[in-house]
Amino acid sequence: MCGIIGYVGKSEAVPILLDGLERLEYRGYDSAGVAVVSPESELRVVKTKGRLSVLREHLEQQDPLRGTIGIGHTRWATHGEPNDTNAHPHIGQDGKIAVVHNGIIENYLEIRELLERKGIIFQSETDTEVIAQLMEYYYRKLGNLMDAVYAVLGRIEGAYAMGILCKDFPGQMIAARKDAPLLIGYGEDGNYIASDVTALLRYTRTVTYMEDGEVAVLTADGVQIFDQDRTAIDKPRHTIEWDVSAAEKGGYAHFMLKEIMEQGEAVRKTISPRVHDGRVVIEELAGMEPYLQGLRKICIVACGSAYHVGMIGKYALERLLRIPVDAYLASEFRYSEPLLGDDTLVIVISQSGETLDSMAALREAKKRGSKVLSIVNVVGSSIARESDITLYTWAGPEIAVATTKAYTTQMALLILLGVYCAECNGKIDAEERKAILDEFDKLPEKIDGVLSDLKIYQEAAARYFNQDSVFFIGRNLDYALGLEGSLKLKEISYIHSESYAAGELKHGTISLIEPGTLVIALATYTPLIEKTRSNIVEVRARGADVIAVATEETAPYVKDQADELMILPKTHPLLQSVLGVLPLQLFAYYVALNRGCDIDKPRNLAKSVTVE
Ligand code: F6R
Repeated sequence: MCGIIGYVGKSEAVPILLDGLERLEYRGYDSAGVAVVSPESELRVVKTKGRLSVLREHLEQQDPLRGTIGIGHTRWATHGEPNDTNAHPHIGQDGKIAVVHNGIIENYLEIRELLERKGIIFQSETDTEVIAQLMEYYYRKLGNLMDAVYAVLGRIEGAYAMGILCKDFPGQMIAARKDAPLLIGYGEDGNYIASDVTALLRYTRTVTYMEDGEVAVLTADGVQIFDQDRTAIDKPRHTIEWDVSAAEKGGYAHFMLKEIMEQGEAVRKTISPRVHDGRVVIEELAGMEPYLQGLRKICIVACGSAYHVGMIGKYALERLLRIPVDAYLASEFRYSEPLLGDDTLVIVISQSGETLDSMAALREAKKRGSKVLSIVNVVGSSIARESDITLYTWAGPEIAVATTKAYTTQMALLILLGVYCAECNGKIDAEERKAILDEFDKLPEKIDGVLSDLKIYQEAAARYFNQDSVFFIGRNLDYALGLEGSLKLKEISYIHSESYAAGELKHGTISLIEPGTLVIALATYTPLIEKTRSNIVEVRARGADVIAVATEETAPYVKDQADELMILPKTHPLLQSVLGVLPLQLFAYYVALNRGCDIDKPRNLAKSVTVE
């Protein structure tokens, strides 16, 4: 979603802002802009609808925007269509204050009407302009910029991360945050703000995460941070371990392909710190055995692909722990008055750690007395910080909008967690634990093996990329896997696709199967392979073309029914979906490539969804 970058220092700001915005492009946006305070203390803003290349063209057509302090923004439209006027930064009527903002100001209409009654004329339809206008209003009234900032923060409701410039203070940038990510970067040449660490990696790895209610004042020489009562506070600085290359394409045509190919290594990084001497060791859960032994229920809450991991988790954890485990969509869970308590563990799964619905579900769960354990990729993100226990996937930055390595590492970590809890609760014997952990050990290698030959996926995609509609079917873990395969395909190729429990098709959906319809049959789950085979036979009988994804063990059951057969190495049944998703990611990728889609930045989508 929207991205923020800000810089104050000794170098020209615009190149740094544009570079930072480029690194935030992956989050999804439809307009972009920058503001600087010039050496003559003029506030200059250039902003436009469209990609950053359009902003660059606009900048080239003007007198150069000089200045060593500036803010930049990529906007993903919420209030008001994507156009030049609604793009950020927004300035107040006096042209003194410029603001970039991520989040939503819920009471903006009420404030706007109030300011309009006072004669203030608004330029845009956005909620953000309300911040700029209100700040100028208070600045005029109170005569002090920080008083004005705090007055605005006291008046607005909703979520925000914001960067503020005022031409009367040409060496100072102000930042504020509530319920939207914002971090401060400390560089040799100046200081930075950004909504996402990838924007800063080129300039610094030393950062501080801002917390809700905090306000920061940045100059070229230092940073002061204040809490919501305006008391100066000291905050720890963190070193980001990711290097710049982790956030670059490294020779691949797309980040998505790079991230697919990184999955062996990513899963290795997730697993290896947590398996020692044939046992799962989760340090973050040390001393919590009595709590885990008292658990009566687990709720897994997440959105999109992370929810699909939750579906896998439901099957896997229920089998391991023999207690009820359910997966919930965070956007539903938060409003469902969930039945929770201290004997229920809520597991929130999120790559970005910033998804608003998942964050709200987390808060709801805590309010209702449950502990929250989160599985998160982005270190220091909001969900990670608000959870009682946070387990990081250590997958490295995921830039492509469509998740791949986050999905596989989340799944690996969730199953590892299941084994750990099962052991705590005496629900797993040494033999089964060994069988699973032996396969965990071989998993990265098996992933690399599957990814070493892409021909079959390229050929299948070349054959089927013109489909109007694709159906995925599978049973049990394969059903959960199909949900992810279907989402991957539709989000990047724009082909309509649906996923069904294979036994459910005949209750309605089978009427959509006609000669030539593509059905992708997931047939990796050995215990139900004969049932799955029957369902494949049913769709074949109606003329469907079938791609079957099977294992060395299940392939013989389905090979006579498949137009294409993708065979995976066998692993422990609980881990099979980690391998099973690879053909689905690759098929989706190559289909989208054949269709000429913008794979890393699919239309209308954003990497981290910070609105409801
Ligand atoms: C799909 C995808 C999304 C995310 C969902 C949750 O490829 O990436 O469905 O899984 O928006 O995002 P996080 O994991 O950041 O909470």
